[in-house]
Order: sequence, then structure tokens, then C-alpha cells
Amino acid sequence: MPRRINYNDWSKEELIKELGKFNKRTKYGIVWEDKAENVAELCREKLPVIVEEKDKEVKSIKDAPTNILIEGDNYHALSVLNYTHKGKVDLIYIDPPYNTGNERFVYNDKIVDTEDAFRHSKWISFMEKRLKLAKSLLRDSGGIFISIDDNEIAQLRLLCNDIFGENNFVNTLAVQRRVKSLNSQFKETKSLNQAFEYVLVYRKTANFRYINPTKEANENRKAGYWNSFWNSADRPTMRYEIDGIKISKGQWKWERERAFLALSNYKKFMKAVGDESKLKSYWQKNNEKFFRENGRPMEFIKPTKTTIKYWVIPSETTIMDTNLMDYYVNDDTGKRKYGFDTAKHPEFIAKLIDIASTEYALILDFFAGSGTTGHVVLELNSRKNASRRFILCTDDENGICRNSCYPRIKSASKKYKGNLKFFKTVFVDGASTDLNKKRLVDKSTEMLCLKEDCFENEKKGKEYKIFKNKDKYLGIIYDDYGIEPFKKDVKRINKRFVVYVFSLDESSREDEFEDIASLVELKPIPAVILNVYRKIFK
Ligand SMILES: C[S@@+](CC[C@H](N)C(=O)[O-])C[C@H]1O[C@@H](n2cnc3c(N)ncnc32)[C@H](O)[C@@H]1O
Repeated sequence: MPRRINYNDWSKEELIKELGKFNKRTKYGIVWEDKAENVAELCREKLPVIVEEKDKEVKSIKDAPTNILIEGDNYHALSVLNYTHKGKVDLIYIDPPYNTGNERFVYNDKIVDTEDAFRHSKWISFMEKRLKLAKSLLRDSGGIFISIDDNEIAQLRLLCNDIFGENNFVNTLAVQRRVKSLNSQFKETKSLNQAFEYVLVYRKTANFRYINPTKEANENRKAGYWNSFWNSADRPTMRYEIDGIKISKGQWKWERERAFLALSNYKKFMKAVGDESKLKSYWQKNNEKFFRENGRPMEFIKPTKTTIKYWVIPSETTIMDTNLMDYYVNDDTGKRKYGFDTAKHPEFIAKLIDIASTEYALILDFFAGSGTTGHVVLELNSRKNASRRFILCTDDENGICRNSCYPRIKSASKKYKGNLKFFKTVFVDGASTDLNKKRLVDKSTEMLCLKEDCFENEKKGKEYKIFKNKDKYLGIIYDDYGIEPFKKDVKRINKRFVVYVFSLDESSREDEFEDIASLVELKPIPAVILNVYRKIFK
């Protein structure tokens, strides 16, 4: 039993000492003025759901998993995902507005500029809500990677310590920025040019692991260098007779070393050299050095009149063993290709995905912008025979979703064989009346299909619907009149069903399904959805 203290009997000194103890208990960490946000306030009255735009579906391959693009504010999309994908996401990558004062950080319909006295508080309030929702989507082995620069890195680090726990901080990665004109920037800012930005890495629990922290040789061309050899001067020390080299039509191999010329390069090489007999010629290159440099694959041969250039790749794979990423963060072609100037570089995103997720991972980006993350997942799947899936969320600020992200992901899905569904967030009245519960159920179909990953329509009706995927069936019963005909279908199909059944209270109505109990797993709607929303929207 807690002891009740009567402070009336305490002296002034005793009271001051006691107050001191309370002060010490104040937590170390970030403090900010919480700023109400319209999109969150809206959820006190309206509840978000998603609806599909069917005409935007891409189906390139049968029975393959479906990737998802959700248009809308990510606070709403993440709330929906808290029902459909709690604990299911392996990796989150986000590239939120950096709060530079001149980009798209919009708070309550106004762009937050650098003069705004509450600019940090607004940004932190905005991020806190989203990161909390995002955390519960992660698996225990999952991690989150957040791009950020100096404007908010300090605040974000403390905020993430608060949300994920300081012990779950993993790394700050530094990534290079392509700086346009160093000199002119320096003149403008009178400070050193910022040549890198960051990625903060946090994990959900200690089960998070970097999966593949290696760097493939051909992944990063910068790591290699051009070299050349030529046949002009002829001095004994620089002479190397290419004797003993086995030459066949399709291949040129060093006998003692691993260096080789691939078929296509061989032809160019022969053309530049003139003919095969010239291979017995003298090359201006110290023998030993030549061999050492070429004990590695050579990639390109660029013949000019007298020289043959080749690209030397330092080694086939190396460990990416420091947090200094040898990648460029920004994609110069973003504006031209996707109408978006802050698009991230695909190679950089590919590296993050590669080091932090298995080939079956589910990847979420809820500041998707022009959709680089989705594009990269599709491309990696095709190149590395992986089967990662993604969920992208973005608003449609300046048409970024419909005019950039969707067309980009649509064409990548066709090119690399992925399936895509396009959803947008809409709202239903949230007041707890029977009519509103019914309305929520009527609008919950897509959410339930998304949760069960079950989209193929088997039976469409007003009172109930049946969907299937290659593993299971999904039944949704909207109305009491649907129960009996639905049960007949279950008996006919005679497979296991997950069944969402309309119920004004929390009961799953087991007694009404007793005769098919072994085939059905029953869940009451809208209770299963409302229980999640109640916790989020309080
Ligand atoms: C820096 S960009 C991301 C760029 C992206 N990484 C790419 O490579 O294209 C941030 C994006 O988040 C979107 N965004 C900002 N606030 C949002 C919100 N509350 N909900 C959804 N999207 C939002 C913006 O429209 C912008 O497109």
C-alpha cells in the first residue's frame, strides 16, 4: 500500500528538499511546444479508410505479391497501416521534408519558413506523430533509416531516442551531396559548403542486423580508376611481350592472373591493336606493375589511336565497414526524369535496402515523393532475383503522386514485372452511432483485403463478398442477411476462411457459425478496426 504523506507537518526546508527530488526526476531529452495539426485533429471526428482506384492497377505477374501506393497524408495512411500491417514491416526508409524553410514542409496548410518562431516545434510535432505510428509497424528485427540534414538532425536524434530508445540508435550514416558550384556557394553562405548529409538509423529491438554490409565492385564506379597502356616507346624495362597468352576468338585470358577481356571488349581491342600479330608487340608498361594492376577484372576498354584504356576495379567485394557512405545522395536527373528536384539517387537507396533487408523484406516509405524507393525495389528484384515488396505513401502536393510517383512506379512495375495497387485515403464519420459503424464496415473492404493480402474477387455481393489468394479465402459479411448464403458458399468451397462479420458489439457471433466452425476464423467488424483507432486517436 502506498504511504500517504501529510505535507502539512513539514518544515520549509524539508519541503524544498523534497521538491528538489522531483526536479531530479525530470527526464533528460527533447522538450518542445506541441503544435496541433489539422490532419490529426480531423481524426477526432472522421476516421480514415482507403479506397482503391481500380483503373490504376498493374498486374504483370500472376500470384506474385502486390506492391502498394497510397495517396494521402501519411498520418492517415499510417493510421490505416496500423490496422493492416502492425509488426509486419521489415525496413522503413523515409526522406521527410528537411525543414529548410524553402521546401515543401507544409503545416496546417502553410509552408513553414525560416522566420517561423515555432518552426522546430512544428516539425517535431509533425514527425513525432508519424514516427510513433511507424514504430508499431516494424517487426522486432526491423529498422528505420531517415534521411536528414543539419537543419533538424539534432532534434531528430533526440526525438528518435525518445521514441525508439537511445539504446536502439544504430548509426548516423554520412552520404555525399553533389554540390553544384563549390566556389559560388561559398561566396553566398560565407561558410564551408555542406558536402554531405545524414541517414539516422534506429532499430526496433536488438534483433535488428545489417544483412549484407558489403560493397560490390561494379556498384560504385568511382571506386575504380582508368588506366592505360600503349605501344609507343620501346625501352627494355618497359617491355612486355604478350607471349604465352592464350587467345581464342571469344576470350582473352591471362594465364597466370585473373585479368580478362570479355568478348565484346576483345573485338574492340583487336580492332585498336590492328591484328592479332601486334599482340606480340611491346607495351609501355612495367611488367610487374602491369600484372599487379590487372590481377583484377578489367571492365571497359576504350581504344584510341595509340592507347588502350581500361577500367580497374579495386576488388570484387569489400565490406562497407564505416558509416561514411561512398554514394551520392541526390539524383541530378530527378527533375528531368520525374519532375522532382529532391529525388534521391537510386544507387544510394539500393545500397540502404541491400545492407538492411533480406530479399523477402517488406519495405515502407511514407514520404515517397517521386517513388525512388519503389522503383529501386522493383529494379533490385529483377536484377538480383529477389522478392521484396513495398508500400509507398505520399501526398499529392503539386501532383507529385499522380504525375510523378504513380507513372514512374507503373512503368517500372511493367518493366521489372511487379504488381501494383493504387489506393487513396478517404474518411467516414467517426461518431459512435450504429449508422456510422455500418458506414465504416461498408467502406472497410479494401482495408481488409490489404490486411489479409487477399485481392482476387471470388464473389461480389451487397451482403457479403469473398476474396482469395493462393493460400486462403477471405469473407466479408456486411449484413445479417448475408450470413446464410455465405455459409452455403463456404461449405461448397470447403477451404479455410478468415471471416469478418458485421457486429454492432465486439462479439464474433460464433454461435451462428457453429456448423462450419472448423472452416472459419471469425472477427467482428468494425470492432477490430475501431479498437486500433481508439488507441491512436484517443
Ligand atoms: C523530400 S521528398 C521525398 C523524395 C523521395 N525520397 C524521392 O526520391 O523522390 C518528401 C515528400 O514527402 C511528401 N510529403 C510531405 N509531407 C507529407 C505528408 N504529411 N504526407 C505524405 N507525404 C508528404 C512531399 O510531397 C514530398 O514529395
